[in-house]
Amino acid sequence: MIRFDTDPESLAGALAGHHFIDGALVPAASGKTFPVINPATGASIGEAALGEAADVDAAVASAKKAQKAWAAMPARERGKLVAECGRVLAEHAEELGRLVALETGKALRTESRPEGNVLADTFVYFGGLASELKGETIPYKPECLTMTVREPVGVVGAIIPWNVPMFLMALKIAPALVAGNTVVVKSAEEAPFCCLRVAQIMGEILPPGTFNILSGFGPECGGPLASHPDVAKVTFTGSVETGRIVYRAAAEKLVPVTLELGGKSPMVIMADADLDRAVDGAITGMRFTRQGQSCTAASRMFVHRDLHDAFVERLVARVDEMVMGDPLDEATDIGTIVSPQQFERVQRFLKLAEEHPDATLHRCSKVPDDPALKGGLFVQPCVITGIPNDHEVAREEIFGPVTCIIPFDDPDEGLALANDTDYGLAATVWTNDLKLALNAVHTLEAGFVQVNQNVVVQPTLPYGGFKTSGLGKEADLHAMLEHFTHRKTIIINLS
Ligand code: NAI
Ligand code: MG
Repeated sequence: MIRFDTDPESLAGALAGHHFIDGALVPAASGKTFPVINPATGASIGEAALGEAADVDAAVASAKKAQKAWAAMPARERGKLVAECGRVLAEHAEELGRLVALETGKALRTESRPEGNVLADTFVYFGGLASELKGETIPYKPECLTMTVREPVGVVGAIIPWNVPMFLMALKIAPALVAGNTVVVKSAEEAPFCCLRVAQIMGEILPPGTFNILSGFGPECGGPLASHPDVAKVTFTGSVETGRIVYRAAAEKLVPVTLELGGKSPMVIMADADLDRAVDGAITGMRFTRQGQSCTAASRMFVHRDLHDAFVERLVARVDEMVMGDPLDEATDIGTIVSPQQFERVQRFLKLAEEHPDATLHRCSKVPDDPALKGGLFVQPCVITGIPNDHEVAREEIFGPVTCIIPFDDPDEGLALANDTDYGLAATVWTNDLKLALNAVHTLEAGFVQVNQNVVVQPTLPYGGFKTSGLGKEADLHAMLEHFTHRKTIIINLS
């Protein structure tokens, strides 16, 4: 047994070069690896196993072999084991938080430690729902006992992103496991070690094969997983573009999918809103502490013209006070962008905004001057005014710390602008007028709508988008029942 301590570098070093298949750390079939880089310094953290089709075959075979016995276990026993994973993961929350901070550049205090905690809580939550895997009885004929039962779908393939890797993985695997499925995860190439460590911790509790995890790149490892004939359900979080590829692979096999895709989520601030609370909400909503790398980020803020200038001034002042720095430093509010590719993407959009004649870019906070962080992918959070809603910067998901503030004059106009997008993940409204609020929540085309608050996704709150933001919900009981079970109809004729 490899020994670990809570130092994230040595943890990553000890996990390097491995997948987790059939209850054990194993090297890639090809023996190949790829480097994982600390985005705060540019230094290598370690080499991750490069997963390809042969690794997918091994992991799926293990999951398939384990699935019947796992499904045959009484539901509450499975639930207890999954909840026990949550209890033990909670003991490792600090260690996991440090590891995810090292890999993704997300600040420990504001983002990575909370992720370690919500990861554990997600397993506890779903573990407790096991006895809710109920069917129905149907009054078909008096001489027949007619019912439905819920059965697991089989082996679930999960493809996850890097922005909240452990939590987004938990939203998939916890309900899948409780429902009696076994799972193969393909982690994001930017953040493989935190998820691998989760697997290793869970491997002490769950039977071998119930939960497998592979690291590797999208087309070479995610592709074969999505299209594997023994994968009976695919669940994906990531970009719209990749979501379409995954959906096509599932369509070929005619298996169900859950897709959590991008967003360009609006926040609408009506004329009567409490401005200070709205500014607080804008900071949480835009996920400035995560460098805006969130599918729910409130990256379009529509503000009534009467409040516009005051809102911009207060928001810019508040964001300006936030501290950018070493993700592992407790004083840091904002860490780095995850990768050079994402860094370039954000720069490209900032340049496009700069080129617009009416745009003003309010660049906030300061890039740290610590020489140890000089290779870090720091981007100043940016509040943009003067950009119209049909500009590329206001339409496309930037996935960086960039938000556009757009004024409106009339509530209906504000809501129409908010809905004028291909996406439909989340929306927020700020008003104390009951009629305005009710009209807004019914009008907004988004799967997750909040009034006068802006909380992040958490277990118990069903979460998922409309329009190109995806298919299906995650995070609650219905998500588990609808997305990880089949309903079988049974008719027993007793005549
Ligand atoms: P991506 O959607 O390409 O990657 C997400 C996951 O899909 C990763 O595990 C990746 O390896 C895998 N993948 C990539 N290509 C694949 C393929 N052909 N078959 C199967 N799996 C594949 O996202 P990426 O490249 O990390 O970021 C690009 C943009 O996507 C971001 O700028 C952002 O706009 C969006 N995004 C949205 C996320 C969300 O939470 N909804 C999360 C991450 C990115
Ligand atoms: Mg990609």
